[in-house]
Amino acid sequence: MAILRLLLLFLFFFSLSEASTPATLFLPITKDGATHQYVTRIYQGTPLTPFPLVLDLAGQFLWVDCDSGYSSSSYRSVRCRSIQCAAANAQRCGLCFSTPRPGCNNHTCGLSPENTVTGTVTSGELAVDVIALPSAYGSEPGPIATAHHFLFSCAPTPLLAHLASGVRGMAGFGRNRIGLPSQLAAAFNFDRKFAICLPSSTASDGVVFFGNGPYTVVSGIDLLETLQYTPVIVNPLLPDDYFIGVESIKISGKKLSLNASLLSIDDREGTGGTKLGTVVPYSTMESSIYAIFTKAFERAAIAAFNMTRVASVGPFGVCFSSESVDITRTGPSVPTIDLVLQSEMVYWRISGANSMVQVSEDVMCLGFLDGGPNARTSIVVGGFQLENNLVLLDVGASRLGFSSSLLTRQMTCSDFNLRPIRRVSS
Ligand SMILES: *[C@@H]1O[C@H](CO)[C@@H](O)[C@H](O)[C@H]1NC(C)=O
Ligand SMILES: *[C@@H]1O[C@H](CO)[C@@H](O)[C@H](O)[C@H]1NC(C)=O
Ligand SMILES: *[C@@H]1O[C@H](CO)[C@@H](O)[C@H](O)[C@H]1NC(C)=O
Repeated sequence: MAILRLLLLFLFFFSLSEASTPATLFLPITKDGATHQYVTRIYQGTPLTPFPLVLDLAGQFLWVDCDSGYSSSSYRSVRCRSIQCAAANAQRCGLCFSTPRPGCNNHTCGLSPENTVTGTVTSGELAVDVIALPSAYGSEPGPIATAHHFLFSCAPTPLLAHLASGVRGMAGFGRNRIGLPSQLAAAFNFDRKFAICLPSSTASDGVVFFGNGPYTVVSGIDLLETLQYTPVIVNPLLPDDYFIGVESIKISGKKLSLNASLLSIDDREGTGGTKLGTVVPYSTMESSIYAIFTKAFERAAIAAFNMTRVASVGPFGVCFSSESVDITRTGPSVPTIDLVLQSEMVYWRISGANSMVQVSEDVMCLGFLDGGPNARTSIVVGGFQLENNLVLLDVGASRLGFSSSLLTRQMTCSDFNLRPIRRVSS
């Protein structure tokens, strides 16, 4: 009994030390025009310094370049065989043969940070440091929330190749113990739950929320109330990714005849299925799915919408004359695409703003790409298709909530009424 009381007391103080629990933590998301990557910004180190990071929904953990002036008095490398190494599933134990500095210390366990845009993997030491992010109570701004022992990996500067200019690493939101959502949930006593809303333009921010909400927009509506839900499926060979069970695809309400075995996950090979990917600018589909999909879209576009096909503009395969397309509140008026989920009644609708890419004044193209005949994952729902959609990942409950396009509610991802109360100076 006494031990239990002591434990409760300990837990009480521990939670207070990680800042009194705010309702919701959030991070801004900007879209980089040159790379179409989505960039967020976390404050890290002592003194707190802003770190722009490419957001990767399926990334394993946070990694930053420690070789170009990472300077923080609270940086600690993690000793081999410690509990933290085990939490990070780190196997290696590393030595440093030059001057010790962040990223190069003796007897430190190591991870394999990956640039998931290029597929490059290096090694990097596991470390802890302070991170900070803004909080909110509903739409009221709250204080800056601070987590003191946040696990991340150092990486060498070349791992930044092909990331947006000014970026210093990647923020991994994958489903493991040291992914951002899990660590923040543990530090602030949240459920393992976050919601992501990617901006469609480089001019205004989107947002990621952590915690239980409410996720209020300017008009006072809590969007959580409006979501539809589908189970998150685990691919045993890609455990960090968020897969959903697309059973069929409809274009203008007509079901495509697709190879069903490509739509499900092969548990032994890890192939097939449908996942979400924020480092993929446009959705990709395995070649046979892509061929049926584009042919059906083109047929519906011409027959029902009187759209005029024009020569393709790479990387897209199907393009139309802009003049032949009406523009509505929800984007270009084109055939709707429905990703049908666990039942015919649950579908993710992709309308014009998320299907058509304006490539020039005269031409717009269907924003889906051929993933190749040997695509490991049959369908990857990419960034362009996620923009101005609110997607809730309830990791603990293994379910995903989605809004479909917020434009149908006359909202965008920039309408969330959240502003940090004060800026953290560096
Ligand atoms: C780390 O250990 C190696 C081998 O014991 C030694 O040569 C090296 O000088 C040490 N490095 C530092 C930074 O202490
Ligand atoms: C469906 O896809 C599976 C897996 O790629 C393949 O083995 C099979 O031959 C395909 N079936 C048809 C009818 O194309
Ligand atoms: C279809 O488009 C063409 C030119 O783009 C136009 O001449 C024709 O009247 C349109 N037909 C309908 C039914 O709207």
